Amino acid sequence: MIQELLDKAVNTHQLKHGELLTLLQTEDSAPLLAAADSVRRQYVGDEVHLRALIEFSNHCRNNCCYCGIRRANRKAVRYRLKPVEIINLGQQAAAMGFKTVVLQSGDDAWFDVPRLTYIISALKKLDLAVTLSIGEKSREEYQAYREAGAARYLLRIETTDSDLYHRLDPGMSWENRRRCLQDLKELGYEVGSGIMVGLPGQSLSSIADDILFFQECDLDMCGIGPFIPHPDTPLADYPGRAFDLSLKVMALARLLLPDINIPATTAMETLNPEGRIIALQSGANVVMPNVTSPECRRFYELYPDKAGVGETAENSRDSIAGKIRAIGRSIGRSAGSHKSKKS
Ligand code: 5AD
Repeated sequence: MIQELLDKAVNTHQLKHGELLTLLQTEDSAPLLAAADSVRRQYVGDEVHLRALIEFSNHCRNNCCYCGIRRANRKAVRYRLKPVEIINLGQQAAAMGFKTVVLQSGDDAWFDVPRLTYIISALKKLDLAVTLSIGEKSREEYQAYREAGAARYLLRIETTDSDLYHRLDPGMSWENRRRCLQDLKELGYEVGSGIMVGLPGQSLSSIADDILFFQECDLDMCGIGPFIPHPDTPLADYPGRAFDLSLKVMALARLLLPDINIPATTAMETLNPEGRIIALQSGANVVMPNVTSPECRRFYELYPDKAGVGETAENSRDSIAGKIRAIGRSIGRSAGSHKSKKS
């Protein structure tokens, strides 16, 4: 029964809601993870693409109940890199061989269109592909960043259960988040979304909906990570930390969207010292080493004990690159865009 479902997924990349639910409920995840690994190899090969992650500001106007840098967390030590510092980190990343930088921040209005377009243009001159992960903006803003040269955008939907979303993200609107993803797609970005797994009140049925949503959005990238409770948030006492379930969800995303880019997330590494390598062997093909300076990265605390907090940019890159080679995979040499975009 399970093997039949997996064969169907491997061959057709289609599963119905009930079929996804069955696979999510199945205790023994090994066959699912192996199927995702084989689809990954067949569609995107053995190259692992590295993206240099720059966490440039932890100021945030939002108040998401799960997130350590939520507006109401007075204990969070706030920082904001200067444009020149961000560009310098980009320069370092390019010198280290990275082809892509990911600019990530809280939803910080200080970084307006003039400032961000300046930064994006400077990074483009370094021959870097620029990915933004800076939250919900107007279509006009997204357009300005696209015209400045940003090619990709990450915005997780977090959950497609809009009631749950509205409970966890007070003051925000699920419909607006969906609108953002739509605008980004129409503007020609490669679009990444994704969810957290193990949120309080999130059912397996809702996760099955999420996976179908990824397919419906025709995503280019999909990031899945376990929810890890942060002590200074309203969700401090919820269990979360669903490592095995996160892996299964990621594997199912690979089966249904066979040629997209899927990162092995830092949250997975945080729960298991080999988390990213296990993810790379269960459908993932991207890793995002952190190149933010060590003084700042410890304050970008979305969740506690984030993996790699004590590392430098070089440590972050070298430790994962060695492990990637040790499992017989190679480091991608191109910018590693979503394949179908090239044709
Ligand atoms: N645990 C795991 N992931 C989290 N994120 C935010 N807070 C947490 C947490 N406590 C994720 C969200 C967000 C991404 C940048 O980090 O999915 O989109």
